[in-house]
Amino acid sequence: MGFARSVGGVSSALFRFAAYAFLLWIPGRFGPYLLPLFFALHTWSTLAVSRTVPRRPSTPAEAALIPKTGDAPSFAEILKEGPPAPKNEGNAVHEQHPHVKPDPDADAAVVPASPAGSLSKRHKKNRKRIANDPLSLTTGAAAAADSDDPDAHLTRRQKLPRNRPLPKATLSQIVNNLVFGTPTPTSRFLNYLSWGVNALVFALAMDAIWTPIFAMDESSLAFARIGAVSHNAVKLTARIPPPSPLVAAAAAGVTPIVAGVVPANNSDPLADDELLAEDEFVGAKVIYRPTKPLGKWTSGPEIHTHEVDDWVATVNVDGLWAATEYEYRLLRPSLETAHHPAFPHSQYFTTFSDPALSAAGPSSEGTHYTFASSSCLKPGFPYTGPWGKSETRGARHFLRVAERVGVRFMLFLGDFIYADVPWHAGNAVEQYYKRYRQTFASPEVKAMAEKIPLINIYDDHEILNDYSANETSPAFGPANKAYRTYVGNANYDAQQPDQNYYDFRVGDSAFFVWDTRRYRSDNALEDTEDKTMLGQEQREAFFDWVSRVNQTVTWKFVVSSVPVMSLWSHGEDTWAAFLSERDAILDVLEHVPNVIVLSGDRHEFAAASLRTTVTEFSTSPFNMFYLPIRTLSQKHHRGATGEDTLLKYIPDGNSKFTTFEVDTRVANRPVVRVRVYVDGAEAWHLDVLGQPLPRALGRGIPVVEDAVGQLGKGLRELLAFIRRSWW
Ligand SMILES: *[C@@H]1O[C@H](CO)[C@@H](O)[C@H](O)[C@H]1NC(C)=O
Ligand SMILES: *[C@@H]1O[C@H](CO)[C@@H](O)[C@H](O)[C@H]1NC(C)=O
Ligand SMILES: *[C@@H]1O[C@H](CO)[C@@H](O)[C@H](O)[C@H]1NC(C)=O
Repeated sequence: MGFARSVGGVSSALFRFAAYAFLLWIPGRFGPYLLPLFFALHTWSTLAVSRTVPRRPSTPAEAALIPKTGDAPSFAEILKEGPPAPKNEGNAVHEQHPHVKPDPDADAAVVPASPAGSLSKRHKKNRKRIANDPLSLTTGAAAAADSDDPDAHLTRRQKLPRNRPLPKATLSQIVNNLVFGTPTPTSRFLNYLSWGVNALVFALAMDAIWTPIFAMDESSLAFARIGAVSHNAVKLTARIPPPSPLVAAAAAGVTPIVAGVVPANNSDPLADDELLAEDEFVGAKVIYRPTKPLGKWTSGPEIHTHEVDDWVATVNVDGLWAATEYEYRLLRPSLETAHHPAFPHSQYFTTFSDPALSAAGPSSEGTHYTFASSSCLKPGFPYTGPWGKSETRGARHFLRVAERVGVRFMLFLGDFIYADVPWHAGNAVEQYYKRYRQTFASPEVKAMAEKIPLINIYDDHEILNDYSANETSPAFGPANKAYRTYVGNANYDAQQPDQNYYDFRVGDSAFFVWDTRRYRSDNALEDTEDKTMLGQEQREAFFDWVSRVNQTVTWKFVVSSVPVMSLWSHGEDTWAAFLSERDAILDVLEHVPNVIVLSGDRHEFAAASLRTTVTEFSTSPFNMFYLPIRTLSQKHHRGATGEDTLLKYIPDGNSKFTTFEVDTRVANRPVVRVRVYVDGAEAWHLDVLGQPLPRALGRGIPVVEDAVGQLGKGLRELLAFIRRSWW
């Protein structure tokens, strides 16, 4: 029993710690294995120990058999007001008191033990007997008389020394039980209570692990969102499944169009069956119009969705005016008279200003805007219960800030799904699709994606943890297909159609987004010149981009899903294990003015200066765990040599994102104002001051002292205001 108790105590303590860690700290891959193991051990121990706990008397007569320890009469005696039972009679009392009814749990005892009869057979027999004789009229003495051994009719439990005073649980047993779950040798109630607590926690953990795998299919998910935005086009991705009865019911509230104009509200809903019958394809038709001033509706592209693409498609809406807000709607495809029931009445996007114009002179738009960056998103973490598995608090924090400060787009640097945490459900593309559906089905993510353009790049968890198998893993194909379908196709166009890395311009800033997974050498390889994270072709494309933007664009943002800084320990999956290629890249970047590196992946925030000229901001998680231990130090890797200098480290917080306010309105004072938000509140900010480009100094924008600059800015804003309001 001592052994069973120890096993119970240790397994339950480990179980409780692991469950807490799994549900609230890190939903790691240990969960599906360790939690069932610890719980099973504790269950076994609870049963084993509880069997040995003396039973309380079940009848007053039985109680009367229990000898008193002191002079005080027992509770049963007081009840019965009978004489005290004789002491030390052992189990012989059953012979003297044949009327004592055996323990009802132990009915099996009245059936003579047959060496041939199996336990389950005996149980069955018993149940039959009880059914025929529910009052047990034929039990007791008659049955017992069949046996020679006076104790033969007693179960193991009954043979326990029940006629000794019941031992009381000691304080240490109670504390041990309540805190760790160690079964007590004295109280069945306490044992079952702490087992019950563990069972409840186990059920919650199993819900957290398996419900997203076996349920939460989200097959009826529908969303429409904007990805890449330029001065004259946007990319629109929509998931439009075929109409289900649910969608058809929602169609009752559709908005009719009168003469090509959609009225503000629906006064004359059409019949659903009429609508559904006339649809020729699954999908929708896009219409859009500028809002300021309100323009005419323009017919946009048709979105055709297909099952093979999980009913997701991306279209290009082009021919737009620069720096203009548009309203768009999705109509039922063939019938241009009805709003699509699956979508909000109206959604909006705003085009960027023309980079050609912002390069030539000031523009209130392209040279002053804010974007955000983050990475790592798992809905339902930390676990808040079976009803909170779709909640993404980070997205709610983000949307609140984004709407307040006017974030123009979000750069999401990977781990947008966790295909393998805590369980990889296989390499089928359907499994990957499902994870994207679950992310977009999170109400907060959906609300965010419908309002803020989302630009993505994948990282390892869109494929497999610490992925470094280039295209050779069977997981890569399906993972890449699902990534491109749900998010990748909405990114800016790559140079080659099937590449995942790409670059783009926004006003007086340029971005290059690296693909750090597809061409990467094995992480475990020795860090030589041949070891690469980008692959030769991508590295050349990157260097080409650098020389193009070097003197033509003020701010250069280099986007890497994994940190370029090498201050983190366990850097095998980051640039810390690819220092030789990093050297080659920094050799070029250190002579390029105004380079900012954006990264994520580490579930912590850190800002660092690389070779003093490049500034990196690594932000994560958006909605995921953070490490309870510190893993970053100035002493690691190139921190030790002073090449990487830590500027700020914010490890704690389940939800982090960084906003970048890019401001080149005053040509000789380009600045990026960086603000880090942790759990929705600003935690730190830094103004990164840039160097003006020679060509900027030569062009006609104000290169002036502060006061005049402010005045110039005020004047420009006034002019912009007048222009917006009156023309
Ligand atoms: C919108 O609906 C309300 C109530 O149904 C109605 O009073 C109003 O006239 C409608 N507005 C338009 C523009 O149709
Ligand atoms: C992918 O990795 C394998 C094994 O590491 C290597 O042999 C192959 O050359 C790599 N392919 C590419 C395109 O880098
Ligand atoms: C970028 O411009 C700087 C001058 O500001 C020059 O020294 C450097 O070599 C250029 N780098 C590239 C890659 O063009």
